[in-house]
Amino acid sequence: MAVASSRQRILAPDRSFETADDAGTRAHKFQVPEVIFGIGTLDEVGGVLRRRGWDRPMVVSDESVSAAGWPDRAVRSMAAVGLDAAVWRGVTPNPKDYEVDLGLDAFFDCGADVLVAVGGGSCIDAAKAIALLSGNGGQICSYGGIDQAVAPIPPMVMLPSTGGSGADVSQFCVVTDTARMTKVTIAGRALVPDVSLTDPVLLTTMDAEVAAHTGIDALSHAIEAYVSLASDFLTAPHAMAATRGMAKWLLRSVEDPGDLVAKEGVARASLQAGMAFSNALLGATHAISHQIGGLSDLPHGLLNAILLPHVVRFNAEVCAVRYKEVAVGLGLDAGDDPSDAAAAVADHIELLAAKLGIPYGLSAVGVKEEHIESFVAGALSDVYMTTNPRPVGADDVRDICLAAL
Ligand SMILES: [Fe+2]
Repeated sequence: MAVASSRQRILAPDRSFETADDAGTRAHKFQVPEVIFGIGTLDEVGGVLRRRGWDRPMVVSDESVSAAGWPDRAVRSMAAVGLDAAVWRGVTPNPKDYEVDLGLDAFFDCGADVLVAVGGGSCIDAAKAIALLSGNGGQICSYGGIDQAVAPIPPMVMLPSTGGSGADVSQFCVVTDTARMTKVTIAGRALVPDVSLTDPVLLTTMDAEVAAHTGIDALSHAIEAYVSLASDFLTAPHAMAATRGMAKWLLRSVEDPGDLVAKEGVARASLQAGMAFSNALLGATHAISHQIGGLSDLPHGLLNAILLPHVVRFNAEVCAVRYKEVAVGLGLDAGDDPSDAAAAVADHIELLAAKLGIPYGLSAVGVKEEHIESFVAGALSDVYMTTNPRPVGADDVRDICLAAL
């Protein structure tokens, strides 16, 4: 791969956030929802809705989370304060455009004035998409990009059951375009939910595979946000805390689903990773994985776990110092030379993924070399590619995918 130009090095300021920022040349913006976090807070959701003056909630969930009983418990909390909630359980993993249309019909049919998602990132993204369409009309996949929807949308309260997508705090919504077989990233401050309510108890009913995939996804959020071109003094502390938290709790939480201390640690890390990446954005790992996920419907976190080490190696030459800090956050002894740290981070992610039972390489999950060309254009136009610390061209996408095969 080509050596980065001097301009690329300027675009990726590779220094610690402990030092001064951009000499006053850049505006810093940080937006998060009202955050409620803690064991047992699920039962507060009714009171939250009542306090905010929202009268007719529609709960958005899926079958597996419903089987765990969490949406029904949220509905009971609402009933306790006199709110009659509708429940729509039609979301599947990697939410599809046609599911959003069905959810929109349900939203209009029940006359809801607030959306309450109870579930993983798919349920939360579906709720965001329904909210967006209810205020703006049209087709959800036409809103890809930044701030394409301008009309007001209904309020949103998000209760994540995984640790996690970060969608409960983020300004992003990802929907699968089933006609083009790709994922569309929709971004905008209007998509930042009004309330993020995390009860770590919800994480205890994830199966081990979902816990592994969503946990390493959250770690990828933390690492990509930390080295992002938009990372700053407001986002970096959250990204680093999330890196440390996932390093400490993820494996333990997957090995023992009933370990509530570990689940709370993962939930905290996921929340902080979400606050970081919503404002700092992400990088090439997510830009590429969205394309593969749209084509294959493979789990988002699994693809990120496979791609992230290769993106770290690709980025290493422009952000060695930040990867050195990430290495410290992961608890690695990366030596004194920052250029060695990226390699240590990449190797560590591969080792962690193996311990979590994630297959090594895209070919192990059915992606073939002949598929790669179909990922290139979409990856380059994905919102998250704009903040990858090293500029990425078409050949770079091909090289990263080939290395990840
Ligand atoms: Fe992600």
